[in-house]
Amino acid sequence: MGDLKDIAGPLTIISNRAPYELRKKAGKPTYEKTVGGLVSVLDEIMCQGGGTWVAWGESAGASDRVQVPVENPKYSIKLIQLTDQEVRNYYQGFSNRILWPLCHYFLDRCHFRTDYWKSYEMVNQKFARAYATEGRSDDCIWIHDFHLTLLPGLIRGENRSLSIGFFWHIPFPSSPVFRVLPWRKEVLRGLLGSDLIGFQLDAHADNFLQCVEDVLKVPVNRQERLVEFQGRTIKVGSFPVGIDFERWNSLASNPTNHEKAQQIRKEVGGKYLLVGADRLDYTKGILERLLAYERFLEKYPEYHGNVCLMQIAVPSRTRVEEYMRLRRSIDETIGRISGRFSTRKWVPVRYLYKAFPTEELVSYYSAADVAMITPLRDGMNLVAEEFVASRALENGCLILSEFAGAAGILTDGSIVNPYDLDGLADTIHECLSMSEAEKQSRMRSLRKAVKANDVYWWCRNFLQSLGTARPLH
Ligand code: F6P
Repeated sequence: MGDLKDIAGPLTIISNRAPYELRKKAGKPTYEKTVGGLVSVLDEIMCQGGGTWVAWGESAGASDRVQVPVENPKYSIKLIQLTDQEVRNYYQGFSNRILWPLCHYFLDRCHFRTDYWKSYEMVNQKFARAYATEGRSDDCIWIHDFHLTLLPGLIRGENRSLSIGFFWHIPFPSSPVFRVLPWRKEVLRGLLGSDLIGFQLDAHADNFLQCVEDVLKVPVNRQERLVEFQGRTIKVGSFPVGIDFERWNSLASNPTNHEKAQQIRKEVGGKYLLVGADRLDYTKGILERLLAYERFLEKYPEYHGNVCLMQIAVPSRTRVEEYMRLRRSIDETIGRISGRFSTRKWVPVRYLYKAFPTEELVSYYSAADVAMITPLRDGMNLVAEEFVASRALENGCLILSEFAGAAGILTDGSIVNPYDLDGLADTIHECLSMSEAEKQSRMRSLRKAVKANDVYWWCRNFLQSLGTARPLH
């Protein structure tokens, strides 16, 4: 576990999802930490420095406040309840059927509905009211993600002494794309209530500045990435998020993991194992990956009987229509590939539609010869980094989409265009025939990059930058 003591201090984190979820244990309700590297590190900083985390979540009793970790409380979560209609319109609607596809360049999947917008506004106000009953005037607040773009502006109000940081986890699109949003002005004004706005990549930060200039006609200092807005100076920057390298590496180095990985290889029975692991989301390129794999089987018949693609798809946003349709298409495509190529002894694709705990994922990543991480667009993609951190033996290959933010860091992976099915099929072949020496030298350098850019570095970098953002006023 990295040390964050020097930067930890009372902090308010605000995000759509809560770090702990209400679950039943032995028939009794309790709050358990959700899986995910980001939650782990933010939970760690909250445990070290204390404060409040405001988020959407279900409460067990009459109180909307929970002290966590339950067994040894260090900070509190203020839970915001959403009505079914708010979940439909704010979360599934505006967040997941407007901002999500827009920011990932899927304009044809956007549903620009006014009822979605109204609900988004109201839920952001609900978060602001919840914060108001908690916050102090000298607070340091860290808001996360596209669900809460209006919140910095709402919290700021007339209060100049607050320090507000905002981290945008997904891509920020170019100005011609962002300008399609009917509520573009409101969203940008909301974000500019922050002191510091962080993005994954320089390109996203630059897109944001361009949008501010084009949409709000506000002066922007591109070189220093500063915006002058309503008498304040807002800093914009890039802070590529990482994972807890040491945690994944040590899980992978455990002898039990080696055994489990060996067992997985034995069970799939193929000589070569390819692994894909994603939330079931159209941005992740699962369908295109399957088609490229089908192309590979057509082009390289010598691998028949010797290769298996294990696709893990974690159920996500299951009530949103686009996600339901994608699930059906994936089912059909896997059915077709299996029908075309399977023999009595060999199944070319294995499909696991469920979430796995970290300990099990490590075993799949360790068992693979090749990881196929081929999103059509992605802010960063931490699965690619998790795979690399799990390769404690410094072997294996990473096929990575050029449209994942991680491609800027993991330059020694086999970088592909996920839309180029033939190119992707050839890259699978290249990886399977790559010399051990080359695999090792690439994996070494990938691991170095993931280690240097870990989530502690990200957290420290952002909070330190937020600290220096304040005196600019
Ligand atoms: O990557 C963006 C993001 O919103 C993450 O913050 C979140 O963990 C992930 O997508 C999953 O989305 P959801 O909260 O809708 O399940």
